[in-house]
Amino acid sequence: MTSSSTTRRNLLLATGALALQAQPAAHQAGKPAPLGSSRKIRLGIAGGGFGAGFSFHEHPNCEVTAVTDLRTDRRRKLQEVYKCQTAYESLEQMLSLEKRLDAVAIFTPPPLHYKHTEMSMKRGLHVYCAVPAVFTLEEAAKLKAIKESTGLRYMMGETSWYREGCIYARNVHRAGGFGELFYSELAYYHDRGDLKELVENKKTRFYEPDGSRSWRWGLPPLHYPTHSMGYLVGVTGERIRTVSALGWGNSHPYVADNVYKNPFFNESALMETDRGHMVRCNVFWLIGEDGERAQWYGEKGTLYMANPGLYGDIHRDRLTKPKALAYPKYLNDPMIPMPMRHESGHGGSHVFLSAEFINALVDNREPEIDVYQSLAITVPGIVGHQSALKKGERLKVPSFDKS
Ligand SMILES: NC(=O)c1ccc[n+]([C@@H]2O[C@H](COP(=O)([O-])OP(=O)(O)OC[C@H]3O[C@@H](n4cnc5c(N)ncnc54)[C@H](O)[C@@H]3O)[C@@H](O)[C@H]2O)c1
Repeated sequence: MTSSSTTRRNLLLATGALALQAQPAAHQAGKPAPLGSSRKIRLGIAGGGFGAGFSFHEHPNCEVTAVTDLRTDRRRKLQEVYKCQTAYESLEQMLSLEKRLDAVAIFTPPPLHYKHTEMSMKRGLHVYCAVPAVFTLEEAAKLKAIKESTGLRYMMGETSWYREGCIYARNVHRAGGFGELFYSELAYYHDRGDLKELVENKKTRFYEPDGSRSWRWGLPPLHYPTHSMGYLVGVTGERIRTVSALGWGNSHPYVADNVYKNPFFNESALMETDRGHMVRCNVFWLIGEDGERAQWYGEKGTLYMANPGLYGDIHRDRLTKPKALAYPKYLNDPMIPMPMRHESGHGGSHVFLSAEFINALVDNREPEIDVYQSLAITVPGIVGHQSALKKGERLKVPSFDKS
Protein backbone atom coordinates (compact mmCIF):
# COMPACT_ATOMS: atom_id res chain seq x y z
CA MET A 1 0.00 0.00 0.00
CA THR A 2 1.40 3.46 -0.90
CA SER A 3 1.75 6.16 1.72
CA SER A 4 -0.99 8.27 0.12
CA SER A 5 -3.38 5.32 0.16
CA THR A 6 -2.38 4.70 3.79
CA THR A 7 -3.21 8.31 4.62
CA ARG A 8 -6.54 8.02 2.83
CA ARG A 9 -7.22 4.74 4.62
CA ASN A 10 -6.54 6.36 8.02
CA LEU A 11 -8.75 9.28 7.15
CA LEU A 12 -11.57 7.01 6.12
CA LEU A 13 -11.12 4.83 9.16
CA ALA A 14 -11.37 7.93 11.33
CA THR A 15 -14.79 8.62 9.89
CA GLY A 16 -15.84 5.02 9.93
CA ALA A 17 -16.34 5.32 6.20
CA LEU A 18 -13.75 2.75 5.11
CA ALA A 19 -15.35 -0.08 6.95
CA LEU A 20 -18.77 1.18 5.90
CA GLN A 21 -17.59 1.05 2.26
CA ALA A 22 -15.86 -2.28 2.65
CA GLN A 23 -18.84 -3.93 4.30
CA PRO A 24 -22.13 -2.85 2.74
CA ALA A 25 -23.90 -4.77 5.52
CA ALA A 26 -22.72 -2.10 7.94
CA HIS A 27 -25.39 0.20 6.52
CA GLN A 28 -28.06 -2.23 7.48
CA ALA A 29 -30.43 -1.89 10.38
CA GLY A 30 -30.85 -5.60 11.11
CA LYS A 31 -31.19 -9.11 9.75
CA PRO A 32 -33.30 -9.26 6.58
CA ALA A 33 -36.97 -10.24 6.71
CA PRO A 34 -37.62 -13.86 5.71
CA LEU A 35 -38.84 -13.27 2.17
CA GLY A 36 -40.81 -16.13 0.68
CA SER A 37 -41.85 -17.84 3.91
CA SER A 38 -45.58 -18.51 4.15
CA ARG A 39 -45.49 -19.08 7.89
CA LYS A 40 -47.93 -16.94 9.91
CA ILE A 41 -47.22 -16.06 13.52
CA ARG A 42 -50.50 -15.84 15.43
CA LEU A 43 -50.06 -12.99 17.87
CA GLY A 44 -52.09 -11.84 20.87
CA ILE A 45 -51.69 -8.23 22.03
CA ALA A 46 -52.23 -7.14 25.65
CA GLY A 47 -52.54 -3.46 26.55
CA GLY A 48 -54.24 -0.93 24.31
CA GLY A 49 -52.52 2.33 25.29
CA PHE A 50 -48.98 2.31 23.91
CA GLY A 51 -49.72 -1.17 22.57
CA ALA A 52 -52.08 0.26 19.93
CA GLY A 53 -49.18 1.95 18.10
CA PHE A 54 -47.39 -0.96 16.46
CA SER A 55 -47.41 -2.64 13.06
CA PHE A 56 -47.33 -6.38 13.72
CA HIS A 57 -50.44 -6.94 11.56
CA GLU A 58 -48.74 -5.37 8.52
CA HIS A 59 -46.02 -8.00 8.54
CA PRO A 60 -46.79 -10.59 5.84
CA ASN A 61 -45.89 -13.34 8.32
CA CYS A 62 -48.13 -12.22 11.16
CA GLU A 63 -51.80 -12.10 11.98
CA VAL A 64 -53.11 -10.51 15.14
CA THR A 65 -55.40 -13.29 16.33
CA ALA A 66 -56.66 -11.76 19.57
CA VAL A 67 -56.33 -8.62 21.67
CA THR A 68 -57.04 -7.77 25.27
CA ASP A 69 -57.27 -4.88 27.70
CA LEU A 70 -59.09 -4.49 31.00
CA ARG A 71 -60.72 -1.35 29.53
CA THR A 72 -63.49 -1.66 26.95
CA ASP A 73 -62.43 1.51 25.07
CA ARG A 74 -58.90 0.19 24.71
CA ARG A 75 -60.03 -3.27 23.63
CA ARG A 76 -62.04 -1.58 20.85
CA LYS A 77 -59.06 0.55 19.86
CA LEU A 78 -56.84 -2.54 19.62
CA GLN A 79 -59.46 -4.34 17.49
CA GLU A 80 -59.68 -1.34 15.17
CA VAL A 81 -55.92 -0.83 14.78
CA TYR A 82 -55.06 -4.50 14.31
CA LYS A 83 -58.26 -5.37 12.39
CA CYS A 84 -58.92 -8.18 14.81
CA GLN A 85 -62.26 -9.87 15.48
CA THR A 86 -61.44 -11.46 18.81
CA ALA A 87 -61.08 -9.55 22.07
CA TYR A 88 -60.78 -10.74 25.67
CA GLU A 89 -61.40 -8.92 28.92
CA SER A 90 -57.98 -9.72 30.39
CA LEU A 91 -54.67 -11.31 29.50
CA GLU A 92 -55.52 -14.06 31.97
CA GLN A 93 -58.72 -14.80 30.03
CA MET A 94 -56.97 -14.65 26.67
CA LEU A 95 -54.30 -17.11 27.82
CA SER A 96 -56.86 -19.52 29.17
CA LEU A 97 -59.39 -19.40 26.30
CA GLU A 98 -57.50 -18.57 23.11
CA LYS A 99 -55.90 -21.74 21.77
CA ARG A 100 -54.59 -20.40 18.44
CA LEU A 101 -51.71 -18.23 19.69
CA ASP A 102 -47.96 -18.60 18.99
CA ALA A 103 -46.86 -15.42 20.74
CA VAL A 104 -47.98 -12.52 22.89
CA ALA A 105 -47.00 -8.83 22.83
CA ILE A 106 -47.31 -7.30 26.30
CA PHE A 107 -47.95 -3.58 26.82
CA THR A 108 -49.23 -3.65 30.40
CA PRO A 109 -47.75 -1.54 33.26
CA PRO A 110 -44.06 -2.20 34.07
CA PRO A 111 -44.63 -3.62 37.58
CA LEU A 112 -46.69 -6.38 35.86
CA HIS A 113 -44.24 -7.18 33.04
CA TYR A 114 -42.54 -10.13 34.68
CA LYS A 115 -45.81 -11.62 35.94
CA HIS A 116 -47.40 -11.33 32.49
CA THR A 117 -44.31 -12.68 30.73
CA GLU A 118 -44.20 -15.68 33.07
CA MET A 119 -47.92 -16.41 32.58
CA SER A 120 -47.48 -16.29 28.81
CA MET A 121 -44.34 -18.43 28.71
CA LYS A 122 -45.96 -21.00 30.99
CA ARG A 123 -48.64 -21.22 28.28
CA GLY A 124 -45.83 -22.00 25.80
CA LEU A 125 -45.94 -18.63 24.01
CA HIS A 126 -43.06 -16.48 22.74
CA VAL A 127 -43.06 -13.02 24.31
CA TYR A 128 -42.53 -9.46 23.12
CA CYS A 129 -42.65 -7.10 26.10
CA ALA A 130 -42.58 -3.31 26.35
CA VAL A 131 -39.88 -1.77 28.55
CA PRO A 132 -38.61 -2.33 31.16
CA ALA A 133 -38.19 -6.12 31.18
CA VAL A 134 -38.47 -6.46 34.97
CA PHE A 135 -38.81 -4.38 38.09
CA THR A 136 -36.60 -6.26 40.61
CA LEU A 137 -33.43 -8.37 40.61
CA GLU A 138 -35.44 -11.41 41.70
CA GLU A 139 -37.62 -11.01 38.62
CA ALA A 140 -34.50 -10.68 36.46
CA ALA A 141 -33.21 -14.05 37.70
CA LYS A 142 -36.63 -15.62 37.14
CA LEU A 143 -36.95 -14.19 33.62
CA LYS A 144 -33.56 -15.63 32.61
CA ALA A 145 -34.51 -18.98 34.15
CA ILE A 146 -37.92 -19.28 32.49
CA LYS A 147 -36.59 -18.22 29.09
CA GLU A 148 -33.75 -20.74 29.32
CA SER A 149 -35.89 -23.61 30.63
CA THR A 150 -38.66 -23.14 28.04
CA GLY A 151 -36.44 -22.23 25.08
CA LEU A 152 -39.13 -19.77 23.97
CA ARG A 153 -38.12 -16.48 22.34
CA TYR A 154 -38.18 -13.26 24.35
CA MET A 155 -37.73 -9.72 23.09
CA MET A 156 -38.03 -6.41 24.91
CA GLY A 157 -39.22 -3.56 22.71
CA GLU A 158 -36.61 -0.89 23.41
CA THR A 159 -37.34 2.01 21.10
CA SER A 160 -33.92 3.73 21.35
CA TRP A 161 -32.32 0.60 19.82
CA TYR A 162 -33.83 1.43 16.41
CA ARG A 163 -33.66 5.20 16.41
CA GLU A 164 -31.57 6.40 13.48
CA GLY A 165 -28.79 7.76 15.68
CA CYS A 166 -28.44 4.43 17.45
CA ILE A 167 -28.41 2.37 14.24
CA TYR A 168 -25.80 4.73 12.83
CA ALA A 169 -23.63 4.60 15.96
CA ARG A 170 -23.91 0.79 16.02
CA ASN A 171 -22.66 0.63 12.44
CA VAL A 172 -19.82 3.09 13.07
CA HIS A 173 -18.79 1.06 16.11
CA ARG A 174 -18.90 -2.25 14.23
CA ALA A 175 -16.82 -0.70 11.46
CA GLY A 176 -14.18 0.52 13.94
CA GLY A 177 -14.97 4.16 13.28
CA PHE A 178 -14.83 5.22 16.95
CA GLY A 179 -11.59 3.45 17.78
CA GLU A 180 -12.03 2.54 21.42
CA LEU A 181 -15.32 3.99 22.59
CA PHE A 182 -14.28 4.98 26.09
CA TYR A 183 -17.18 7.14 27.27
CA SER A 184 -20.91 7.38 26.54
CA GLU A 185 -23.44 9.90 27.81
CA LEU A 186 -26.94 8.51 27.82
CA ALA A 187 -30.08 10.46 28.61
CA TYR A 188 -33.80 9.97 28.84
CA TYR A 189 -35.55 13.23 29.72
CA HIS A 190 -39.34 13.18 30.10
CA ASP A 191 -40.57 16.22 31.97
CA ARG A 192 -43.70 15.83 34.13
CA GLY A 193 -45.03 19.27 33.13
CA ASP A 194 -46.88 21.74 35.31
CA LEU A 195 -46.38 20.48 38.87
CA LYS A 196 -49.65 22.04 40.11
CA GLU A 197 -51.57 20.35 37.30
CA LEU A 198 -49.77 17.08 38.03
CA VAL A 199 -51.58 17.01 41.39
CA GLU A 200 -54.91 18.53 40.38
CA ASN A 201 -55.64 17.38 36.84
CA LYS A 202 -56.78 13.78 36.96
CA LYS A 203 -57.08 13.59 33.17
CA THR A 204 -53.36 12.98 32.64
CA ARG A 205 -51.44 9.74 32.16
CA PHE A 206 -50.51 9.87 35.85
CA TYR A 207 -54.06 8.83 36.78
CA GLU A 208 -56.32 5.92 35.89
CA PRO A 209 -59.83 6.71 34.58
CA ASP A 210 -61.21 6.18 38.12
CA GLY A 211 -58.94 8.97 39.46
CA SER A 212 -56.49 6.69 41.24
CA ARG A 213 -52.78 7.19 40.57
CA SER A 214 -51.30 5.21 37.69
CA TRP A 215 -47.99 3.29 37.71
CA ARG A 216 -46.29 6.41 36.40
CA TRP A 217 -46.90 8.37 39.61
CA GLY A 218 -43.56 8.54 41.46
CA LEU A 219 -41.85 5.91 39.28
CA PRO A 220 -38.15 5.76 40.29
CA PRO A 221 -36.32 7.25 37.28
CA LEU A 222 -33.66 4.54 37.15
CA HIS A 223 -36.32 1.82 37.19
CA TYR A 224 -36.98 3.08 33.66
CA PRO A 225 -33.38 3.08 32.39
CA THR A 226 -33.72 1.31 29.07
CA HIS A 227 -34.23 4.34 26.80
CA SER A 228 -30.80 5.52 28.00
CA MET A 229 -29.03 2.19 28.39
CA GLY A 230 -30.13 1.03 24.94
CA TYR A 231 -27.64 3.52 23.50
CA LEU A 232 -24.74 1.74 25.16
CA VAL A 233 -25.71 -1.93 24.94
CA GLY A 234 -27.38 -1.40 21.56
CA VAL A 235 -24.16 0.08 20.17
CA THR A 236 -21.25 -1.79 21.79
CA GLY A 237 -22.94 -4.76 23.50
CA GLU A 238 -20.93 -4.19 26.67
CA ARG A 239 -22.18 -4.83 30.18
CA ILE A 240 -22.29 -2.66 33.28
CA ARG A 241 -20.26 -3.99 36.21
CA THR A 242 -20.59 -1.24 38.84
CA VAL A 243 -22.80 1.78 39.35
CA SER A 244 -22.82 4.79 41.63
CA ALA A 245 -25.89 7.01 41.37
CA LEU A 246 -27.30 10.14 42.95
CA GLY A 247 -30.84 11.43 42.95
CA TRP A 248 -32.62 14.71 43.41
CA GLY A 249 -36.15 15.41 44.58
CA ASN A 250 -38.15 18.04 46.44
CA SER A 251 -41.27 18.06 48.60
CA HIS A 252 -43.81 17.66 45.76
CA PRO A 253 -46.31 14.82 46.43
CA TYR A 254 -45.04 12.99 43.31
CA VAL A 255 -41.84 12.20 45.19
CA ALA A 256 -43.01 12.67 48.79
CA ASP A 257 -45.91 10.21 48.49
CA ASN A 258 -45.74 7.31 46.06
CA VAL A 259 -46.08 3.52 46.22
CA TYR A 260 -42.41 3.05 45.30
CA LYS A 261 -41.16 5.13 48.28
CA ASN A 262 -39.10 6.94 45.64
CA PRO A 263 -37.87 10.37 46.76
CA PHE A 264 -36.33 11.37 43.41
CA PHE A 265 -37.52 13.27 40.34
CA ASN A 266 -34.13 12.87 38.65
CA GLU A 267 -31.36 10.29 38.90
CA SER A 268 -27.86 10.38 37.45
CA ALA A 269 -25.60 7.33 37.42
CA LEU A 270 -21.90 6.87 36.74
CA MET A 271 -21.18 3.36 35.53
CA GLU A 272 -18.19 1.21 34.75
CA THR A 273 -18.39 -1.38 31.98
CA ASP A 274 -16.85 -4.83 31.65
CA ARG A 275 -14.43 -3.28 29.12
CA GLY A 276 -13.27 -0.62 31.58
CA HIS A 277 -15.25 2.19 29.93
CA MET A 278 -17.12 5.09 31.54
CA VAL A 279 -20.84 5.71 31.14
CA ARG A 280 -23.04 8.48 32.46
CA CYS A 281 -26.69 7.53 32.44
CA ASN A 282 -29.37 10.10 33.30
CA VAL A 283 -33.11 9.64 33.69
CA PHE A 284 -34.86 12.90 34.64
CA TRP A 285 -38.59 13.54 35.17
CA LEU A 286 -38.18 17.26 35.99
CA ILE A 287 -36.15 19.12 33.41
CA GLY A 288 -36.47 21.79 30.71
CA GLU A 289 -35.38 19.38 28.00
CA ASP A 290 -36.76 16.22 26.48
CA GLY A 291 -35.80 13.23 24.40
CA GLU A 292 -34.02 9.90 24.33
CA ARG A 293 -30.51 10.69 23.21
CA ALA A 294 -26.81 9.94 23.53
CA GLN A 295 -23.36 11.12 22.69
CA TRP A 296 -20.50 8.69 22.22
CA TYR A 297 -16.82 9.55 22.65
CA GLY A 298 -14.12 7.38 21.07
CA GLU A 299 -10.41 7.62 20.41
CA LYS A 300 -11.10 8.64 16.83
CA GLY A 301 -14.21 10.69 17.10
CA THR A 302 -17.50 11.64 18.66
CA LEU A 303 -21.14 11.33 17.66
CA TYR A 304 -23.83 13.62 19.06
CA MET A 305 -27.48 12.79 18.59
CA ALA A 306 -29.54 15.90 17.96
CA ASN A 307 -30.64 17.93 20.96
CA PRO A 308 -33.83 19.56 19.59
CA GLY A 309 -33.67 23.34 19.56
CA LEU A 310 -29.96 23.33 20.46
CA TYR A 311 -28.09 21.38 17.79
CA GLY A 312 -28.58 18.67 15.16
CA ASP A 313 -26.92 15.28 14.73
CA ILE A 314 -23.15 15.74 14.52
CA HIS A 315 -20.18 13.50 13.75
CA ARG A 316 -16.88 15.00 14.84
CA ASP A 317 -13.57 13.32 14.13
CA ARG A 318 -11.03 14.15 16.79
CA LEU A 319 -8.68 15.89 14.35
CA THR A 320 -11.22 17.67 12.14
CA LYS A 321 -14.21 20.02 12.36
CA PRO A 322 -17.72 18.81 13.31
CA LYS A 323 -19.93 17.70 10.42
CA ALA A 324 -23.72 17.69 10.35
CA LEU A 325 -25.01 14.15 9.90
CA ALA A 326 -27.58 12.90 7.42
CA TYR A 327 -28.59 9.35 8.20
CA PRO A 328 -29.09 6.66 5.54
CA LYS A 329 -32.76 5.82 4.88
CA TYR A 330 -32.92 2.85 7.23
CA LEU A 331 -36.64 2.44 6.58
CA ASN A 332 -35.76 0.84 3.24
CA ASP A 333 -33.65 -1.77 5.00
CA PRO A 334 -34.30 -5.38 4.00
CA MET A 335 -35.36 -6.13 7.58
CA ILE A 336 -38.56 -4.14 7.03
CA PRO A 337 -41.21 -5.81 4.85
CA MET A 338 -42.65 -3.46 2.20
CA PRO A 339 -46.05 -2.81 3.84
CA MET A 340 -44.28 -1.65 7.00
CA ARG A 341 -42.06 0.97 5.35
CA HIS A 342 -43.75 4.03 6.77
CA GLU A 343 -43.24 6.55 9.54
CA SER A 344 -43.92 5.28 13.04
CA GLY A 345 -43.62 6.25 16.69
CA HIS A 346 -40.53 7.02 18.78
CA GLY A 347 -38.22 8.14 16.01
CA GLY A 348 -39.57 5.58 13.56
CA SER A 349 -38.59 2.66 15.80
CA HIS A 350 -42.01 0.98 16.08
CA VAL A 351 -41.90 -0.65 12.64
CA PHE A 352 -38.35 -1.94 13.29
CA LEU A 353 -39.37 -3.49 16.60
CA SER A 354 -42.52 -5.09 15.16
CA ALA A 355 -40.57 -6.43 12.17
CA GLU A 356 -37.66 -7.80 14.20
CA PHE A 357 -39.90 -9.81 16.54
CA ILE A 358 -41.83 -11.48 13.72
CA ASN A 359 -38.70 -11.93 11.55
CA ALA A 360 -36.94 -13.72 14.42
CA LEU A 361 -39.87 -16.05 15.11
CA VAL A 362 -40.22 -16.97 11.44
CA ASP A 363 -36.44 -17.48 11.11
CA ASN A 364 -36.42 -19.54 14.29
CA ARG A 365 -33.68 -17.38 15.85
CA GLU A 366 -33.34 -15.14 18.89
CA PRO A 367 -34.47 -11.54 18.34
CA GLU A 368 -31.69 -8.94 18.39
CA ILE A 369 -32.90 -7.52 21.73
CA ASP A 370 -32.97 -10.96 23.34
CA VAL A 371 -33.42 -11.73 27.02
CA TYR A 372 -29.73 -11.08 27.81
CA GLN A 373 -29.62 -7.71 26.06
CA SER A 374 -32.96 -6.81 27.67
CA LEU A 375 -31.67 -7.55 31.17
CA ALA A 376 -28.37 -5.81 30.42
CA ILE A 377 -30.25 -2.57 29.77
CA THR A 378 -32.73 -2.97 32.62
CA VAL A 379 -30.77 -4.30 35.62
CA PRO A 380 -28.10 -1.53 35.92
CA GLY A 381 -30.93 0.94 36.52
CA ILE A 382 -32.51 -1.17 39.27
CA VAL A 383 -29.14 -1.35 41.06
CA GLY A 384 -28.50 2.32 40.27
CA HIS A 385 -31.68 3.30 42.12
CA GLN A 386 -30.52 1.28 45.14
CA SER A 387 -27.21 3.17 44.97
CA ALA A 388 -28.99 6.53 44.83
CA LEU A 389 -31.02 5.57 47.91
CA LYS A 390 -27.65 4.88 49.58
CA LYS A 391 -26.32 8.33 48.58
CA GLY A 392 -24.12 7.09 45.76
CA GLU A 393 -22.61 3.95 47.28
CA ARG A 394 -20.82 2.12 44.46
CA LEU A 395 -22.62 -1.18 43.90
CA LYS A 396 -21.87 -4.25 41.83
CA VAL A 397 -24.30 -5.05 39.02
CA PRO A 398 -25.04 -8.77 38.76
CA SER A 399 -24.80 -10.45 35.38
CA PHE A 400 -27.79 -12.23 33.92
CA ASP A 401 -25.97 -13.33 30.79
CA LYS A 402 -25.98 -16.91 29.52
CA SER A 403 -23.96 -19.02 31.98
N1 LIG B 1 -40.83 4.35 24.18
C1 LIG B 1 -41.29 3.26 24.76
O1 LIG B 1 -40.70 2.20 24.65
C2 LIG B 1 -42.58 3.31 25.57
C3 LIG B 1 -43.43 4.43 25.50
C4 LIG B 1 -44.64 4.39 26.22
C5 LIG B 1 -44.95 3.27 26.99
N2 LIG B 1 -44.09 2.22 27.03
C6 LIG B 1 -44.40 1.02 27.83
O2 LIG B 1 -45.60 0.45 27.35
C7 LIG B 1 -46.35 -0.10 28.42
C8 LIG B 1 -47.76 0.47 28.40
O3 LIG B 1 -47.71 1.85 28.54
P1 LIG B 1 -49.05 2.72 28.54
O4 LIG B 1 -48.66 4.13 28.50
O5 LIG B 1 -49.98 2.21 27.51
O6 LIG B 1 -49.60 2.34 30.00
P2 LIG B 1 -51.10 2.34 30.50
O7 LIG B 1 -51.07 2.15 31.98
O8 LIG B 1 -51.80 3.52 29.94
O9 LIG B 1 -51.75 1.06 29.80
C9 LIG B 1 -51.56 -0.23 30.27
C10 LIG B 1 -52.77 -1.03 29.84
O10 LIG B 1 -52.60 -2.38 30.28
C11 LIG B 1 -53.89 -2.87 30.58
N3 LIG B 1 -53.78 -4.05 31.47
C12 LIG B 1 -53.25 -4.13 32.71
N4 LIG B 1 -53.37 -5.39 33.20
C13 LIG B 1 -53.96 -6.13 32.21
C14 LIG B 1 -54.35 -7.47 32.12
N5 LIG B 1 -54.16 -8.35 33.13
N6 LIG B 1 -54.96 -7.90 30.99
C15 LIG B 1 -55.18 -7.03 29.96
N7 LIG B 1 -54.82 -5.73 29.99
C16 LIG B 1 -54.22 -5.28 31.10
C17 LIG B 1 -54.57 -1.70 31.29
O11 LIG B 1 -55.98 -1.84 31.27
C18 LIG B 1 -54.07 -0.53 30.49
O12 LIG B 1 -54.97 -0.14 29.46
C19 LIG B 1 -45.58 0.25 29.68
O13 LIG B 1 -44.82 -0.85 30.07
C20 LIG B 1 -44.63 1.35 29.29
O14 LIG B 1 -43.43 1.27 30.00
C21 LIG B 1 -42.92 2.22 26.34
